[in-house]
Amino acid sequence: MSVNKLDDLKRRKEKILAGGGEKRIAKQHDSGKLTARERLDLLFDEGTFVELDAFVKHRGTNFGMEKAESPAEGVVIGYGKVDGRLVYAYSQDFTVLGGSLGEMHANKICKVLDNAMKVGAPVVGINDSGGARIQEAVDALSGYGKIFLRNTLASGVIPQITAIMGPCAGGAVYSPALTDFVFMVDKTSQMFITGPQVIKTVTGEDVTAEALGGAMTHNSVSGVSQFIASNDQACLEDIRRLLSFLPSNNMEVAPEYDTDSDINALEEMLNTYIPENPNKPYDMHEVIKVLVDQGDFMEYLPHYAKNIVTGFARLNGKTIGIVANQPKVLAGCLDVNASDKSARFIRTCDAFNIPLLNIVDVPGFLPGTEQEYDGIIRHGAKMLYAYSEATVPKISLIVRKAYGGAYLAMCSKDLGADLVLAWPSAEIAVMGPQGAANIVFRGEIKDAEDPVATRARLIQEYTDEFATPYKAAERGFVDDVIEPAATRPRLIDAFDMLESKREVRPAKKHGNLPL
Ligand code: HXC
Repeated sequence: MSVNKLDDLKRRKEKILAGGGEKRIAKQHDSGKLTARERLDLLFDEGTFVELDAFVKHRGTNFGMEKAESPAEGVVIGYGKVDGRLVYAYSQDFTVLGGSLGEMHANKICKVLDNAMKVGAPVVGINDSGGARIQEAVDALSGYGKIFLRNTLASGVIPQITAIMGPCAGGAVYSPALTDFVFMVDKTSQMFITGPQVIKTVTGEDVTAEALGGAMTHNSVSGVSQFIASNDQACLEDIRRLLSFLPSNNMEVAPEYDTDSDINALEEMLNTYIPENPNKPYDMHEVIKVLVDQGDFMEYLPHYAKNIVTGFARLNGKTIGIVANQPKVLAGCLDVNASDKSARFIRTCDAFNIPLLNIVDVPGFLPGTEQEYDGIIRHGAKMLYAYSEATVPKISLIVRKAYGGAYLAMCSKDLGADLVLAWPSAEIAVMGPQGAANIVFRGEIKDAEDPVATRARLIQEYTDEFATPYKAAERGFVDDVIEPAATRPRLIDAFDMLESKREVRPAKKHGNLPL
């Protein structure tokens, strides 16, 4: 081959690697953001990224586009290794036409999704874009449509992770929303359907872009994003961590890691951690920390619906998903947001063969008109549905309260829990002693000579009879009552026993999840 042709190839590649040029790259860095290529370098194991479609060009001819250069068409795509495992990725280049999405830019993202589906590899999409490329009109909109379709078809087949690392506006937000996990970077990323200016014009409302669609807004108020990071570097590190908990596709199980934790260690602290007083709160994170390998827990949606704790951890090196009530917030009651959060998490785990551990301390569903009007019936049903349809191993550990419908919603035996363990502090009944006294003993208390003493006596009788795990254990709804200190070895043994679990559901087009 002639030297000229090799020089020509080198020159072409150098031009593409230069992206939108020094000035725009400097602007990107000044605004606290890395470039598209720097991000991919951090995401992948060193030297493993293989770029595809670097030579792709747009075909726009309107409004000056015929002369517009677009190195790599404003999106860098390819594959590489994360912790030695294959992952596909795309990374939008804001320095090239604002990372805007036109026909060919969209085709590149579709290629990532198509290729990843063929080989069963996760996809990481890094978004930093002004949205639909205005000069390409309906071709740009069509591009988004093609991506939405592929996101949907890939759902439940390969893990899809989106990182929002800049603007993401208009209908563009729906690709991230269709993926399994959305990460946002604090202060440098925003997502909204309509921006502050449009809102001001239409409704007169004044709101900043950050308050409207910044990372904390979507992590704590809307629940659109499940993870927040302080900068691009931390975000990419978090994505690598999340991938370590996930299988590459729905036909595999998550990778197993060596554990340094002692699998037989008794955790004496658990014998005394739950307060004697049932109304006293405690932090469920402390329980989770001592149960899982090295206390390593990657929390999913930690800033949203804090009355339920969800996330990934490992037991004896194997990934599990944890759903746990949080007595510290709203006494651990289930509400609309907690139901949505946990239902989504349960379905994510089930789709990707991740066994579930449910740690139960729930007094009930949150009462009130607000909850009823917001549709707690509809939302709570999602949780029941998600647990019932899940075929992965499901273990429920009742540590304290398990009352009423919430007892069922936290995956009781009847909803398909493969094993239900309880601590001696467990209370399993239709309702708590105080509530029961107000209803079933009302007449007896009213007619008593000393209503106060009678009420106290009846509450005590109810507590002795029902506020224990033994009534449920007598019926087989609880498989065993165990010493809290021995929980970790017991769970490791139980998940091992369930590893070969196979459960088949009736054939159907798809179920009709209450939405
Ligand atoms: C074409 C775009 C663009 C777009 C930005 N640029 N957005 N080009 N189409 N959508 C270009 C700018 O012209 C500029 O080019 C360069 O990218 C950088 O943009 P700046 O405005 O200089 O950057 P900044 O000040 O940081 O502002 C970023 C921004 C702003 C907030 C994203 O550019 C913006 O508001 N863009 C439009 C956003 C928008 O409304 N998009 C459509 C959303 S609706 P030069 O050559 O000057 O460097 C949508 C529908 C999807 O996406 C529907 C799916 C169903």
